[in-house]
Amino acid sequence: MKNASALDFLATRRSRPAKTLSQPVPNREQLRDLLTIAARTPDHGKLEPWRFIVLDRARLKELHTTIDEAGKRLNEDAERIEKMKNQFGNADLAVAVIFVPKPSHKVPEIEQIYSAGAVCLALLNAALASGWGANWLSGWASHDREWCETALSLGPRERVAGFIHIGTETSAPPERPRPDVDAITEDLAAPAPAFDVFAAPDISTIDLAVPLPAPVLNVPAPVLDGPASESDDGPIAALSLD
Ligand SMILES: Cc1cc2nc3c(=O)[nH]c(=O)nc-3n(C[C@H](O)[C@H](O)[C@H](O)COP(=O)(O)O)c2cc1C
Repeated sequence: MKNASALDFLATRRSRPAKTLSQPVPNREQLRDLLTIAARTPDHGKLEPWRFIVLDRARLKELHTTIDEAGKRLNEDAERIEKMKNQFGNADLAVAVIFVPKPSHKVPEIEQIYSAGAVCLALLNAALASGWGANWLSGWASHDREWCETALSLGPRERVAGFIHIGTETSAPPERPRPDVDAITEDLAAPAPAFDVFAAPDISTIDLAVPLPAPVLNVPAPVLDGPASESDDGPIAALSLD
């Protein structure tokens, strides 16, 4: 069933720069609702290769104090250190979406990373659709192993997929240029194929004395999953969509 308001939201959604966000921020209950929506994200094999760390004002202030040391160690320039500090120091609420790789023979790690990115977008969109301003940020510190393990206590293979800053918007940014979908999409705007499969054959060239070969239909057979117990979605998913 068509959901016009969802389509309208998706067609017009726009992040609000974190530095323009202010109080109030979602309360605990409202945030739980947003996280519940975010966790409803495609996840091959139901591995849940992600988790959340809620960063309230106190926790953000703590992170702010860790940046100077990390910046010096990494030889970051003063401007980038200041920007990273402000990302935490000026914020009231952010959620760190943490990528948590899970062992799996079936689901390659890259698919688990995609899922963590999808969680970030779902959380961002849930916040925006609820009327909050929100912004998905990373920053150099989020890619530094040592900082992640000391400041955020991440496990050795965990990574920050994103910091989703959430608050009250103080100003709406202008629209940013959006991609030219035709330019990035193969076939959507392609000209008609040179070989028109529906054109009538030129029968003047056919020698009726020579028997025509039987047509070969090259249609792959549908691939059915193994036993239902192996399916991600339980017994009804004999024909897997994953
Ligand atoms: C993984 C990821 C990390 C990002 N990190 C930053 C960042 O550190 N700083 C920044 O200004 N924008 C960053 N962005 C860009 C913004 O989140 C966002 O793409 C931009 O504001 C436009 O968003 P919109 O399409 O919702 O309007 C990041 C985006 C992604 C996907």
